[in-house]
Amino acid sequence: MHATCDVVVLLSGTGSNLQALIDSTQAGDNPARIRAVISNRADAYGLQRAQDAGIATAVLDHKAFEGREAFDAALVELIDSFSPSLVVLAGFMRILSGDFVRHYQGRLLNIHPSLLPKYKGLHTHQRALEAGDAEHGCSVHFVTEELDGGPLVVQAVIPVELEDTPASLAQRVHAQEHQIYPLAVRWFAEGRLSLGPLGALLDGQALAASGHLIRP
Ligand code: GRF
Repeated sequence: MHATCDVVVLLSGTGSNLQALIDSTQAGDNPARIRAVISNRADAYGLQRAQDAGIATAVLDHKAFEGREAFDAALVELIDSFSPSLVVLAGFMRILSGDFVRHYQGRLLNIHPSLLPKYKGLHTHQRALEAGDAEHGCSVHFVTEELDGGPLVVQAVIPVELEDTPASLAQRVHAQEHQIYPLAVRWFAEGRLSLGPLGALLDGQALAASGHLIRP
């Protein structure tokens, strides 16, 4: 049996990734425990999902703060009141300051809907289609100061079909997000995943630059 690993999830929206995490932590042998869900938007549906699962929620509205640094400092204080071992970004639509990212160095994960380093930022599905890519997917990575640029942990790769639209591709990628994010969080909670000086380590071994690859 592993000791439990306290997790705080940050989100701004629907929270389908949060739901996948909640569902995965209900498996008896998963040491990850979601202690709190924090949103910068009071209307985020993810807050409802958390409440339905009996998880503490909090809202910190960025518009109430004078600038990014002040908001991020308050966010750190709020997160740390739950003393998490891991902080998980699950559709948190804010760019985080260097101070924030450094504070959670090695214990801050993000999920991004592309095969990073391709398509950092927004509209990833449309960009993959426009580029004529044969494959697309999603990535879990440790967060560093470079936006969508930290060491990769795991990627799910799916084929792009001729008839795909941004919406159909988004739907299939989303389904893969719900597989790989719980996997990465579980690895971390079990003490198997860490951030070394040169990149992500799984069971003490350096992961490939692409992270662990899954082709469902
Ligand atoms: C996902 O596409 C994720 O990759 C991105 O934000 C979206 C969040 O979706 N970072 P949801 O709120 O978990 O459904």
